[in-house]
This record gives sequence, structure tokens and C-alpha cells, in this order.
Amino acid sequence: MHHKSVIAKASEHLCKGGLVVFPTETVYGLGADAFNAEAVAQVYSEKGRPGDNPLILHIANMENFRELSHQPPQYAFALAEAFWPGPLTLVARKNPALPAWLGGHPSRTTETIGIRMPAHPIAQSLLEESKCIIAAPSANKAGKPSPTTLAHVMEDFPNSGIFPLDGGSATVGLESTVVDVTGDAPIILRPGFITEEQIFKTLGTPSPTPPQGISSLDPKFLQDEKLCEDERPRSPGMKYKHYAPRADMTLVNGDSERVAGYVLGAVNENPNAKIGILIGKKTLRYLKNAPPSAKILLLGDNEKDIAHNLFARLREFDKLDVDIIFAETTPENGLGVAIMDRMRKAAEGRVVYV
Ligand code: TXA
Ligand code: MG
Repeated sequence: MHHKSVIAKASEHLCKGGLVVFPTETVYGLGADAFNAEAVAQVYSEKGRPGDNPLILHIANMENFRELSHQPPQYAFALAEAFWPGPLTLVARKNPALPAWLGGHPSRTTETIGIRMPAHPIAQSLLEESKCIIAAPSANKAGKPSPTTLAHVMEDFPNSGIFPLDGGSATVGLESTVVDVTGDAPIILRPGFITEEQIFKTLGTPSPTPPQGISSLDPKFLQDEKLCEDERPRSPGMKYKHYAPRADMTLVNGDSERVAGYVLGAVNENPNAKIGILIGKKTLRYLKNAPPSAKILLLGDNEKDIAHNLFARLREFDKLDVDIIFAETTPENGLGVAIMDRMRKAAEGRVVYV
């Protein structure tokens, strides 16, 4: 008897309608055969995901992209060419010959689908071996930070029959950039590792003017964001509370010394509270004498480290059982846009300027 490789076993499980957790370069995914309505419905119920929020379809090759989409514009192919395989999701018009619900909950209908070709070798092997299109959201319970290790996934889905594939710690750490390619020009629906600058540089067209270019740390913008809350967002996933640790989190924006001073003040005013503090090394220097009720975790010193660490740190604070969290902001350009998007959601918009 041959010993079947773990990929072959995972693939068999997937083809029989089972769910497979697999690593990607961004975060772990909870995958089902995208054409199996029962399996896809199970992804929604396991995750506790609202039925109006569609799933990304993961593909192995460009042929899959052509089969799933309907007349994508030339610039969509240019983006696919530049960034696939990789952390980019293209939302395209759906091929009308496909099942009415494909990409969404089987009880709904979809007109567009989010498509991504992942770069992680284990994700690629699973796609190739199974010959499936894999519908997969991030492998966390709805509202929790996305998982960047298999251990995180197991925290959220302890006793389930989900087949686990371990790929160690996800390198990017934030979910893919989601780009709407149904119109004349791309629209970024969710910022990610592939930045707005990279996208528009690739296409040789100018970046759009605000709101995409505006600093969302501008208090005016925060107000606008509140106003937008009732509108139906283009990307349904963006309206839900996301990435949140259990404790209430507040972002602190200012230079290192002032951030440290503000946080230390809060620690001293609340001697009976366990306070989580998420900062960079520079700010840590001003917090050397913080009392033990301050649970300090380092976020990282550059954008890539911060992106890689953010979700893992939020989960660590859950384990430390802190009462409140203060987190230092990051400059909002390049990858910082995606980092701040996730941080603001985790903090439900709370920012103090010091
Ligand atoms: O990096 C990633 O994108 C990870 C890995 C596993 O690939 N996946 C991921 O999936 O983050 P999920 O389901 O957690 O987030 C998908 C986002 C949601 O905000 C959803 O609303 C949006 O993509 N989305 C999916 N299909 C869409 C569509 N047809 N139109 C608009 N937004 C869509
Ligand atoms: Mg998610």
C-alpha cells in the first residue's frame, strides 16, 4: 500500500464535500468545493458568516479565471498578470452560464465573483490535486481576527471535522487586496498587501482622488465614515465588525513619547485593570518602567512586520485576558493603509490624538 500524501488526503476530503483548512500567503482559508452547494453552506454555518457576504473563489490558473468571469476588461488581465499568483482578489462579472448562487450562499444569487490565485505552494498543490475551484473565506469565526497560524484556526474551530493543512506562519499576515474590475477603472474595495500605488503604477493610470487617497486619520474622514455606515457597501464584508479582540481597543496617534505618556497615564489611573499595549520598539523605550498590569506586546518596526504580526497579537491579548487595549497607529501610506484599515476595524473607529 502506498502512503497517501497529506495533500492527496485533503483533496479527497474536499472532493467528497468536506471542508479543508489550508495556508495561503495572506491568512489561512476555510475551503470547500465551490460548486458543492452543501459544502459551501457548511462554510457559512461553521464560520457564522452572514449569507449576504460572498466568498472568494481560489483558482489554480488563468484558464479558471476565464471560465469563471464574463468579459473582464483588459486592465483586469494586466493586474492578474502583474500580481498573480499573489495577495490580490479581482471582483469580476460572473459567467452567466454558471450556477446562479456561485461565489455566494447557495440560497442567494450573485452577479459578480471574487477570484484569487494564491501564491502559497500548499494552496497551489491542493488546487492542482483536487482540480476544484475552492471557495474559501478566512478560517476564523466571523468577527474574530483572521488566522495566521493553524493554531489560531484550531482556537476557533476546536472539535470539527475540518481537514487541517499546516503551512506554518502566514508570511503576509493580512488578507488580500480586493479590487472591483467590473467598471472602466479598478476600485479598491479592501486594501491589502498589494497597494493602491502598485495597482495604478502597473496600469500606468493616475490613482483616483479622495476618498481613496485621503488620510483616514483625519477626524473629518472618521465622521464621513460614520455617515457612510448605512449605505450598502460595495464589498458586503466591509460593513461587519471585524478583526476584533475581546477587549475594547483604542488607537493612539502621536509621536512615540506622547503615545507612551498617554498610555502610562491610563495604566496608572486604572491600577486594577489589565491593560494591553501594542506598540513599536521606539515607543517601548518610554515604557520601561510600566507596572506589571501593563501587558506590552511589540507590533514590529516596519510595515511588513506589523502586517505579519497584527492579527496574532490581537489573539494574544485574548489569551492574556486584558480588559482594554491601546494600540499605536501606523503612518497611513503604502502597506500602512491596509494595516490601519484592520486596526480601525478592530478598534471600532476609536482613535485618540495625543
Ligand atoms: O487573503 C484573503 O483574501 C483570504 C485568503 C483565505 O484568500 N480570504 C479572505 O476571505 O479574506 P474573506 O471571506 O474573509 O474576505 C473576502 C472579502 C469580503 O470582504 C467579501 O465581502 C469580499 O471579499 N468579496 C468576496 N466576493 C465579493 C464580490 N463578488 N463582490 C464584492 N466583494 C466580494
Ligand atoms: Mg475574513
